[in-house]
Amino acid sequence: MLAITLKEITASAPGKIILFGEHAVVYGSAAIAMAINLRSFVTAKFISEKQLSIHAKDVHLSQEFPLDLEAIESKIPHLKIMGPILNCCTSIFKKKFPENGIELKIWSQIPLGAGLGSSAAIAVSTVGALNGLLELNLSIEEISSLAFESECLVHGTPSGIDNTISSHGGAVYYKKGSVKRMDVRSKIPILILDTKIKRKTSFWVGKVKEKYNANRQVFSLIFQSVDKISLKGRQLLERGYLKDLGELMNVNQGLLDAMGVATPEVSKIINKIRKLNVFGVKITGAGGGGCIIILCDPRRIKDISRQLRKDHDIFSTSLSRDGLKIEKMVR
Ligand code: MEV
Repeated sequence: MLAITLKEITASAPGKIILFGEHAVVYGSAAIAMAINLRSFVTAKFISEKQLSIHAKDVHLSQEFPLDLEAIESKIPHLKIMGPILNCCTSIFKKKFPENGIELKIWSQIPLGAGLGSSAAIAVSTVGALNGLLELNLSIEEISSLAFESECLVHGTPSGIDNTISSHGGAVYYKKGSVKRMDVRSKIPILILDTKIKRKTSFWVGKVKEKYNANRQVFSLIFQSVDKISLKGRQLLERGYLKDLGELMNVNQGLLDAMGVATPEVSKIINKIRKLNVFGVKITGAGGGGCIIILCDPRRIKDISRQLRKDHDIFSTSLSRDGLKIEKMVR
């Protein structure tokens, strides 16, 4: 039978929120992450020019690279935005080098640098699209671990939770080296408030490391408490007990404050939200700005969004079951 090669493929992968356990997860504690219904998209197609051409629409960046592994690899350390994307390409090209040029078009619904896993979603969808185009048949775990390599260029020493949730979708209970997919039946309506305060995950991971190194015994206990929160949170999430989940989110926020990632500006917004009698509110992701997540009585979502919308960017989301997904194939 004649093999029909693909000409073009579009893959997408979701952003995420961390319900419990950010930062502590870097030190081996458990964390819980949920995929959300905002996604990154990558179209990969063969082109006649012998080059790798990348267009990142949201950041208005277009660049061409010669189709040569060494030449591309030498560029990676020098390019802040393109570097991690190129790394996804080379890790795939090492498995199968393309005979034709390739064009990648990248766009995203996930706000960049806001703690919602945009870089991981872009990495997963890039690796996923190239895997499809070159018909490599990599497993989801293999795709996730190639995306992790590119995440290391963005974040320094990431735990791997972002690429894991973006690849798998749904909700996961994650500890370094172990991923447990969770059986969450209820909708888990979450409000996300984007503080619009830009921050870098690697900076805040570094800050927590400094504090940990200065006070190891105390910080180890904080991380152990977070581990227990994630364990309890897992049962509550699977049972859909929203009020108790909110209470645990508040405790986790207290511990994030102790880790030093809640800046005065972020704490001010969190305190304002607390006054609205929500079930729970906390930072999601690295902190220092970025996004805040809110869990409240589902019947009050509209009212709470209305009250916060006056001063903030706020949107509602819920659990997305889809991880990496093929959106379109052209033969
Ligand atoms: C980033 O989404 C979450 C952090 O825990 C870093 C990591 O786990 O890689 C802050």
